[in-house]
Amino acid sequence: MGDFSTRVKSIQPTGVRKMFDLAGDDTISFGLGEPDFQPPEVAIEAFYHAMKNGRNKYTTTAGLPALRRKIAEEWSSRQAGLSEQNVCITMSGTSALMNLFMTLVEPGKNVLLPEPYFPLYGPDVSIAGGSSKYYPCTFEHNFVPQVEELEALCDENTVAILYNFPNNPTGATITESDRDALLDFARRRGLWIISDEVYDQIIFEGEHVSFLGCGYDDVAVVNSFSKTFAMTGWRIGYILSANAELMQNVIKMQYYISACSNDAMQYAVLEAMEKAPDFPKQISLAFKERCDAIVDRLNAIDGVECHKPKGAIYVFPKVTVPGMSSEEIAMELLKDGVLCSPGSAFGASGEGHIRLAFTIGLDDIHRGMDIFEQTINRLRRP
Ligand SMILES: Cc1ncc(COP(=O)(O)O)c(C=O)c1O
Repeated sequence: MGDFSTRVKSIQPTGVRKMFDLAGDDTISFGLGEPDFQPPEVAIEAFYHAMKNGRNKYTTTAGLPALRRKIAEEWSSRQAGLSEQNVCITMSGTSALMNLFMTLVEPGKNVLLPEPYFPLYGPDVSIAGGSSKYYPCTFEHNFVPQVEELEALCDENTVAILYNFPNNPTGATITESDRDALLDFARRRGLWIISDEVYDQIIFEGEHVSFLGCGYDDVAVVNSFSKTFAMTGWRIGYILSANAELMQNVIKMQYYISACSNDAMQYAVLEAMEKAPDFPKQISLAFKERCDAIVDRLNAIDGVECHKPKGAIYVFPKVTVPGMSSEEIAMELLKDGVLCSPGSAFGASGEGHIRLAFTIGLDDIHRGMDIFEQTINRLRRP
C-alpha cells in the first residue's frame, strides 16, 4: 500500500465526535451542536417540488441567483450596495471555511484563531498549508479576546484573523465597542477578517453584532442555514463579502471544492427565507428558555461556574473536580448517562471546562442536570 499525505496524517478526529461515538442509545445528549427542531415545513415541501420540477442539476458555481439576491438583500441593512455578486452559496459553513482558508492562506503564512475553538479551524488552516496561532478567549474576560494579546501574537506572516461570535463552544457574543476594537486591530495590521457568524440569528438579548458593514472591506462572513433553519443535514451555507476581488477568488475556488451547491435545496432555502422568516426567532425563544434553565441549574452546583450566553446553543461552564481532567469528568458523566464534550476538545485552554449544547427539550435538560449534579457531587466528595 502506498503512503498517505502528510496533510491527512497531520489531522486528528475531533474530541467531540470521540465522546459521541461512545454514547449509548439512552444517553441524555448535550453532545453535538445540532438543533433538535426540523426545518420549516414550507422548505421541505419546496424541496420536494423543486426536485419534481427537475431541479436536480448543477447550478452556477456561485449558486442560485435568486437565493444570492435574497441573502444580499437581508444583509443590505448593514452594508449598502450588496448584490448577488457578493454572495457565494457553499455546501455548508464547513465548506465555506475551507474555501476561505484555501483562498487566503499560503504555506509559511499564519492565521490567528480563537481558543477555545470550533475544532475545524486549525486543521483547515494546516490543510491549506498554513499554521495557526491561537489567541485566548478566557472565562475572566467573558471569552472575548483582548487586543493586547492579539498584538503580541501577530507577526509579519500573519494574513488573517478568524472571529466567531456568537461563539461555539463558549456562547460568547460581543458588544459594538468590542467589535470596533477587534476590527481596528485587523485594519491596523492589514489582516483579512474571516467572521464565522453561523449563529447570527440565534440571539437571546439585543441585536447580532456583525463585522460586516463597518467600513473595512477585507471581511468575509461565513454563514450557514444549518443552525438558524435547523438544516444541519442539508449542507447549505454561504460566503458573503463586500470585497469584489475576494468574491471572484472565492467563486473560482468553489468550483474546485464542490463545483456548486445542491440544486433543489437552494430553492428550499429560498422558500424558507421568504415564507418562514420568523423561524430563527422562534427557535431562539426556545433556546433562550433552555439556556436560562441550564445556567441556573449549573450555577447551583458546587464547583461549577457558568456565564449566561446571549446567543448560540452552548454553555461552557468551569467545572472543578480536584485531580480530574475535563475528559475524565466527561467520561464519568457519560458512564452515568449524560453526554457532554470535555473542554479540552476545544484546545488546551478549554481544560477545566465542559461544553453542553442545549439542543434537547426542557424535560431532558432537567433530567440531564439531575444526573450532572449527582455525578459532580459524587466526584467532589473527599
Ligand atoms: C462556529 C461554527 N462554524 C461553522 C460550523 C459549520 O456548520 P455547517 O457546516 O453545518 O454549516 C459550525 C457547526 O457546528 C459551528 O459551530
